[in-house]
Amino acid sequence: MGKLTAEERPKIGALANEVKEMLQAELDQKRTTLQAAQIEAQLESEAIDVTMPGVYRLQGRTHPITSTVDRMIDIFVGLGYTVATGPEMETDYYNFEALNFLADHPARDMQDTLYLSDGNILRTHTSSVQIRYMEANEPPVRIIMPGRCYRRDTVDATHSAVFHQLEILAVDQGLTFTDLRGTIKIFLETMFGELPIRFRPSFFPFTEPSAEVDVQWRGRWLEVMGCGMVDPNVLKAVGYDPEVYTGFAAGLGIERIAMVLHQIDDIRRLYASDLRFLRQF
Ligand code: DAH
Repeated sequence: MGKLTAEERPKIGALANEVKEMLQAELDQKRTTLQAAQIEAQLESEAIDVTMPGVYRLQGRTHPITSTVDRMIDIFVGLGYTVATGPEMETDYYNFEALNFLADHPARDMQDTLYLSDGNILRTHTSSVQIRYMEANEPPVRIIMPGRCYRRDTVDATHSAVFHQLEILAVDQGLTFTDLRGTIKIFLETMFGELPIRFRPSFFPFTEPSAEVDVQWRGRWLEVMGCGMVDPNVLKAVGYDPEVYTGFAAGLGIERIAMVLHQIDDIRRLYASDLRFLRQF
């Protein structure tokens, strides 16, 4: 501009302004186009197709064995019991000897035991936990012991080599068979509703007297547990004075209870992991 004459200066100045405005207008337009394209692209990439089917996730459910144990535990916790557990691999002492099974006594044949190569066994019942708990605790005792048990059984509709039991034990001064009967009756009525129950005399090495309990279910008697007054020899084995304390115990088959509750015809269904079966619960 400095080299221009006085007449040229305003003309060239105006021209420069015109060029500047033109460029600015072009720039503005380009910016608008680019921004619009950017918004368009974003809308496209973030669009949600509300008509698309969702991702279906299978909902997990409580296994009928678990829900049955939970119900049983709830009932006994309501009666003041607490839960105790013990190992599934056991010694002969806890599974048999301390429970008053004498060596070579035929009662050992009542339970087909699975022996391990190291001389230990897989527990055949949860009664072993009674001994472990009483060894470690002073009376009074009021415990339930749910757990897995093992027997050398041929698998069929009502037998499984692996199964579950719930063991009950109460020890105190002055406990009688009436307390056992009342406890069992309340438990069964809470579990199944009011139904006829009967106690049949039976034999277990660790209880005296012993009984088996049946409930009347759909027109027939169904055995649901063994029970009895804790044998004085068992109390002695854990260092309790049988002159001061008495106790009652029971052992229930959890699968049996689950099968009655849910009308399951074959125990093997409980272990088959068949979703068509499990989804029904
Ligand atoms: N342990 C027994 C069994 O597996 C069941 C049983 C019977 C448990 C009587 C008890 C009891 O505590 O008192 O066949």
